[in-house]
Amino acid sequence: MIQEAPDRNLALDLVRVTEAAALSSSRWLGRGDKVQGDKAAVDAMRLSFNALEIRGTVVIGEGEKDEAPMLYNGEKLGTGKGPEMDVAVDPVEGTRLLAYGRPNAIAVVALAPKGSMYDPGPAYYMKKLVVPAQAKYQVDIKMPVAENLRKVARAIGKAVDDLVVFVLDKPRHRDLISEIRQAGARIQLHTDGDVAGALMAVTPGGDVDVMMGTGGTPEGVLAATAIRVMGGEMQGMLDPQSEEETKALLNAGYNLNQVLTLEEMISSDDVFFAATGISGGTFLKGVEFTGEGAITHSMVMRGRTGTFRRIEALHSFDKLMRVSAIKYR
Ligand code: FBP
Repeated sequence: MIQEAPDRNLALDLVRVTEAAALSSSRWLGRGDKVQGDKAAVDAMRLSFNALEIRGTVVIGEGEKDEAPMLYNGEKLGTGKGPEMDVAVDPVEGTRLLAYGRPNAIAVVALAPKGSMYDPGPAYYMKKLVVPAQAKYQVDIKMPVAENLRKVARAIGKAVDDLVVFVLDKPRHRDLISEIRQAGARIQLHTDGDVAGALMAVTPGGDVDVMMGTGGTPEGVLAATAIRVMGGEMQGMLDPQSEEETKALLNAGYNLNQVLTLEEMISSDDVFFAATGISGGTFLKGVEFTGEGAITHSMVMRGRTGTFRRIEALHSFDKLMRVSAIKYR
């Protein structure tokens, strides 16, 4: 018997934030300017957040790493009414993908109750392992690559050489790539975009089975939020890529040997996540301009109910620009 009416699903409001970021930034597709593409998304996101009924604080901002225009850590977002939330943002996840017109640039935002998101402090880079839900208790990021792949294959009923592993195409992954090849699995190499990679690995029937390798720490926490809703396993380890980063982490008391579980990266189930495609690709279609407006494609999730929605929205620019300060053309 239903005891009470469902309360507000903030994710349905949140998707307007990622839609606005995607609509604004996709004007910069392939124009070779990652800073302007990011700035367009940041500005649109900041304006759209003003309408969201939360008392939000940015815990996972993006930008310091690249000195990009940013929604900075500690910035207050929302109307100042409603629940106190930690906010994770990545206005353009894959700024280079957008700048060079490559697939899988997305606008991403997550919300979680205050204090429940992992604070990465001075950590820019995290080693990640993401596998489907069936392999949840089988893998260990500290185990050899081949062993993890064997366990995933067995858990999902495939052979190792059926598996496709998403890996960022970075020089630091030379050994990882050869270990995956030696194990017999196949690889999708992407220049950027490991949030999409992580979510592809936990999407049943998708074309990726596993995500491995080192990427951004903020991106790790964002992906972890969605994986709490979608199911699947994620483990992480801070993986500093410079002496400076290592020193900063050790001085701040971070343990570089600790395996971060999904529950440590995001300690509540009561989360909200939204992502909208910017440049398109197999993960989420990109913004399609129609002349009078545009069509956007988003995924929207709420942890408490486990609801996962795909939303296709038709936007009319003339009407939107009568009610919004965002310049859509
Ligand atoms: P940006 O959105 O900041 O451009 O990040 C894209 C990305 O590829 C992430 O998906 C990934 O986690 C990170 O950069 C990897 O960092 P780097 O390119 O410095 O190796």
